[in-house]
Amino acid sequence: MDIQRRRYLIAAVAASFVSIPAARARAAPAHTVSVYKNRACGCCGGWVAHMRANGFDVRVHDVDDVTPQKQRLGVPMALASCHTAEVGGYAIEGHVPAADVRRLLAERPASARGLALPGMVPGSPGMDGPGTAYATLLFDSRGRSSLFAQH
Ligand code: CU
Ligand code: CU
Repeated sequence: MDIQRRRYLIAAVAASFVSIPAARARAAPAHTVSVYKNRACGCCGGWVAHMRANGFDVRVHDVDDVTPQKQRLGVPMALASCHTAEVGGYAIEGHVPAADVRRLLAERPASARGLALPGMVPGSPGMDGPGTAYATLLFDSRGRSSLFAQH
């Protein structure tokens, strides 16, 4: 092998080592989730743990009243749950599975304001109890909602 080709190969191998972390960072962007919840809410803490276990960087804000945050983020009151979160410019209301949040961030559907899992469904992430069928809803800034995922 001539010296020119050898130099090229060494450079190529070195470059491939350098590019591995960069490629990984692109594949899994670190999304910061800001969660607004009441300090006394145990199930909210369960959802925070679920999101962290799924690789999200979660910042918790304990507040006395979560309603102003729901209004600021445009969560329709009919879809309200306990805690409210914000990630990548979207609102996430309630015990929405991390996989749904990931899909929202990847697909960025047109006119979406956020996702909601209304109420407190037993068996949803962070909620104890038997597995119950539930649906994650997508809502827009006009308060219209549609089915996003069935669980
Ligand atoms: Cu809850
Ligand atoms: Cu909660």
